[in-house]
Amino acid sequence: MSLTLAIPKGRLFEESIKLLKEKGILHADLEEGRKLLIKANGFNFLLVKPADVTVYVENGVADLGIVGYDIILEREPNLYTLLDLGIGFCRIVVAGRQESKEKYFKETYVKVATKYPRIARRFFSQKGIRSKIIYLSGSVELAPTIGLSDYILDIVQTGRTLKENKLIVIEEVTTSTARLVCNKASYRNKREEIMDFFNKLM
Ligand code: PRP
Repeated sequence: MSLTLAIPKGRLFEESIKLLKEKGILHADLEEGRKLLIKANGFNFLLVKPADVTVYVENGVADLGIVGYDIILEREPNLYTLLDLGIGFCRIVVAGRQESKEKYFKETYVKVATKYPRIARRFFSQKGIRSKIIYLSGSVELAPTIGLSDYILDIVQTGRTLKENKLIVIEEVTTSTARLVCNKASYRNKREEIMDFFNKLM
């Protein structure tokens, strides 16, 4: 039985392919082009949007997936997390304008734009701060500049996007790296293949 692996396109793609090559799972590069289903080395690779990896794995159309911990925290998917792959390091932070920093720590109510509404809601509720969470699917850094929100909760990797939009990190929520996740039924039914894959990655 061949395994199907969901790979995130975008920022994690290159690091994922590099890792799979280093571990001997792939022998050649996969191209991040228009082709979304690629057969290579006896595996099927699905090239999907990062936030959708867990959807493919939960529904069993992919046995395994590579996905950021940020997505796992946000979606709380029903699957197994097998391994921290140590790639795709980033921080999940609350950011805002320089002049908002001092105010932030005194706030009892915050307006926050984010791609991660669940993480944001949980984070502020644990701090006992009331929040209005404004969901955006991207370009979140624009929100404080144009007055849509006071703060954002987002991932920061190089810090470039924050800098270019004159925002600063105010508080770190947590850190994130990519994880190997597995469909629960596949884990039972394709155990040998999955263990073999897992051992290669170790
Ligand atoms: C992510 C994130 C930040 C940016 C951080 O967005 O939401 O905007 O990357 O990276 P940096 O610290 O290296 O600048 P992404 O590039 O995925 O695009 P999006 O805004 O369309 O979601």
